[in-house]
Amino acid sequence: MILMIIVILKTFSGVCRYPLGMAGGQIQDEDISASSQWSESTAARYGRLDFDDGDGAWCPDVMAEQDALKEFLQIDLRTLHFVTLVGTQGRHADGVGNEFAQRYRIKYSRDGSRWVSWHDHKGHQIIEGNKNAYDVVLKDLEPPIIARYVRFMPVTDHSMIVCMRVELYGCEWLDGLVSYSAPNGQQMSLKGQHVYLNDSVYDGAMGYSMTEGLGQLTDGFWGLDDFTQSQVYGVWPGYDYVGWTNASFPSSYVEMTFEFDRVRNFTSMKVHCNNMYTWGVRIFQRATCYFRSESDWEHNFVSFRPRGDKISPSARFVTIALGNRMASAIKCHFAFSDAWMMFSEIAFQSDTAVYNTSLVPRDDPTHKLDDSNTRILIGCLVAIIFILLAVITIILWRQVWQKMLEKASRRMLDDELSAQRDALSSHHSSQSSEVESTSAYERIFPLHSDYQEPSHLIRKLPEFAESAEDAGKREGNTPQVSAADEVPHYAEADIVNQHSAATRSSYSVAAVNMAVPPGREGALEEFPREQLTFKQKLGEGQFGEVHLCEAVGIQEFLKEDFGGSEGKPLLVAVKTLREDANKNARNDFLKEIRIMSRLRDPNIMRLLAVCVESDPLCMITEYMENGDLNQFLFKLELQNESDYAALCGMATQIASGMKYLASLNFVHRDLATRNCLVGENHAIKIADFGMSRNLYRGDYYRIQGRAVLPIRWMSWESILLGKFTMASDVWAFGVTLWETLTLCKEQPYSQLSDEQVIENTGEFFRDQAKQIYLPQPAGCPDPIYRLMLNCWRRNAKDRPTFQEIHNSLQECQEKGQDDNAAK
Ligand SMILES: *[C@@H]1O[C@H](CO)[C@@H](O)[C@H](O)[C@H]1NC(C)=O
Ligand SMILES: *[C@@H]1O[C@H](CO)[C@@H](O)[C@H](O)[C@H]1NC(C)=O
Ligand SMILES: *[C@@H]1O[C@H](CO)[C@@H](O)[C@H](O)[C@H]1NC(C)=O
Ligand SMILES: *[C@@H]1O[C@H](CO)[C@@H](O)[C@H](O)[C@H]1NC(C)=O
Repeated sequence: MILMIIVILKTFSGVCRYPLGMAGGQIQDEDISASSQWSESTAARYGRLDFDDGDGAWCPDVMAEQDALKEFLQIDLRTLHFVTLVGTQGRHADGVGNEFAQRYRIKYSRDGSRWVSWHDHKGHQIIEGNKNAYDVVLKDLEPPIIARYVRFMPVTDHSMIVCMRVELYGCEWLDGLVSYSAPNGQQMSLKGQHVYLNDSVYDGAMGYSMTEGLGQLTDGFWGLDDFTQSQVYGVWPGYDYVGWTNASFPSSYVEMTFEFDRVRNFTSMKVHCNNMYTWGVRIFQRATCYFRSESDWEHNFVSFRPRGDKISPSARFVTIALGNRMASAIKCHFAFSDAWMMFSEIAFQSDTAVYNTSLVPRDDPTHKLDDSNTRILIGCLVAIIFILLAVITIILWRQVWQKMLEKASRRMLDDELSAQRDALSSHHSSQSSEVESTSAYERIFPLHSDYQEPSHLIRKLPEFAESAEDAGKREGNTPQVSAADEVPHYAEADIVNQHSAATRSSYSVAAVNMAVPPGREGALEEFPREQLTFKQKLGEGQFGEVHLCEAVGIQEFLKEDFGGSEGKPLLVAVKTLREDANKNARNDFLKEIRIMSRLRDPNIMRLLAVCVESDPLCMITEYMENGDLNQFLFKLELQNESDYAALCGMATQIASGMKYLASLNFVHRDLATRNCLVGENHAIKIADFGMSRNLYRGDYYRIQGRAVLPIRWMSWESILLGKFTMASDVWAFGVTLWETLTLCKEQPYSQLSDEQVIENTGEFFRDQAKQIYLPQPAGCPDPIYRLMLNCWRRNAKDRPTFQEIHNSLQECQEKGQDDNAAK
């Protein structure tokens, strides 16, 4: 541990790792630009790490007909910076985003005109990026970058949308050195092995000599005493050093020129030299430096002769005093004192630009080593103490925070449930024998085939490739639930939490540990479990089941009359969570209770009561005897035109329910006939809020690719951008309306494969009149079909609101009734 830290501290880059202000805001919006943007809400300024503004990230317009590899997000740091680390993140946007860059490249520039592609010590340019949209992936830049402008360039192809949020880490480049020029490093033969002393990371031009670049002499890595060795793993001998032999320099000195960003007042210069005199390498004999602040080199030079040293073969910094000379360029002649001269680092001190002396040793070179080792050791101990303190603080802080949120959420749940009804004394309930504890709750799907298992088509989108294969392997299970079987479905939520806990007050963090309020007598009304009698299984999900039950005395319990005589049992649907469901499933279940308890509308499925005092948790909802609308319509045959009025009436009810949800800004995300239930007299109620993922922070991911997406009902922006709004619900309503008027006799776009549906989505996005719309159902009046087409407008703003839809459908219904009456 200590050794490791010594190695880190030994280099300047080990401490120069401050966030440069993407997340912190020190970098201004106007300094963040991009080659293109997908939309105004995914502009460059949204590319800040850990920020969720706009649509949650920068996304280039890769669909446009241009080279996707040339897309970039550019950051102007205003001054030169030493960048040692980069962090990237995808677009999460509270769980609706799912785009990220799996790989990217970096380009940088010091002057804004000459751009250099970054590569690592082995020459690789591609950096492995994110694996999901929420975790921050940090990458050390070795070698580090000295630049003012940095570009992130996602490596992608046209079929995939990438989004990025980024941060740069480092510190200001106080040297002000913009470039150095020197003769090319040479090759040495030592005991039969070749030692390559070229400047392997030089980013300027390398012809006969090196010009206009920076490289190993400014990379923050100091060479070892034995120049054939390196701290960098797996590189050639001599990697850390740039070296020259006197045989190639008749003048017997090496000339180097250093260019700076502006005229500076120079105090000193430090040159890290090798001194393995036993192998013919020695620190320079003399350095003569010339200064230039305007056009010409000044005659007045500074000369420095280090103390001769035959005692220690240690590599060392030699400090050359520059006598407070003003210059924007310095030219030095380093005279050989032996056959070879090798440098690994050169640093300048000017004006206020003095690095902390505890990190860059100076003073007398002969005493430097011991001295700096002591300092490094002290530094290490301090660092270790700090790290431990930080870890302890974080752990304690998280615990306190979680407890606070936990309490708050419990209070919320209590308040909501108790506010709805008068508090009654709670019953101690035993587990009812009808409820099978082997059942599982996730989302309860009516046993239907509308849900597409999109694994094979989503495999096309690289970010889903892996999980789609998982799903593919499990083909053959029940279609609705297969996708998530056995997969630790909720595991990723914990990852999200771990990341977000530190940065945001994430609701799901609290929810993780939120249990049913224990022993709060009276606060939470509870239906006595023993008064439920199992009748029949209605549906099944991953973590639970839905049963048809008889509830004895529920009308008295609710003090409401549902028709039927007092005391007569009422049929109810009971959704249960299996007892061994994990914490996240429990929380989702409780959240669904919270959502549903808030909704009260004639066209929305109503939550009647709950059993949450003991396991298994269950929620009791109305039972609709005619089942779901899809099955109901499928069995229906159109007799005459008046039936259209009935269909219109049902559609009107759906629109009315959606109008109510819209008034609460509640996005359903899964509107379809299968999620509408039919009661007496064609009464329709919208149900299934299990997928209301805007409230299930992060759920969308877990479902993405590995579970089920109702792509045939989803708007193009939901599929491509993961954007769910009232307007995408309107789109789904259009499809639902189409289903209704075709009597659910066929699936939407039944002639298209899932791949083609996704491709069609792309056509909607491109809007070149190549998109395919659902056809006008036979006998469907033109105004109604126009209404559907309006729901599928490309631009969300052009789609009607549910209020408008409701009005037009009411007109249609009335007109239908009038027509009937006329006949
Ligand atoms: C430096 O020398 C090594 C070893 O021959 C070689 O692989 C590398 O490409 C050289 N680097 C440059 C920048 O010339
Ligand atoms: C350079 O800095 C030194 C020390 O801060 C100061 O004494 C000197 O006057 C400065 N030189 C110029 C030309 O400003
Ligand atoms: C290079 O340095 C070695 C050792 O000091 C010396 O013997 C040799 O003559 C020098 N060669 C040249 C060309 O100056
Ligand atoms: C050096 O470190 C000290 C203490 O850590 C700090 O107060 C000071 O500002 C640092 N100096 C520079 C130039 O960064």
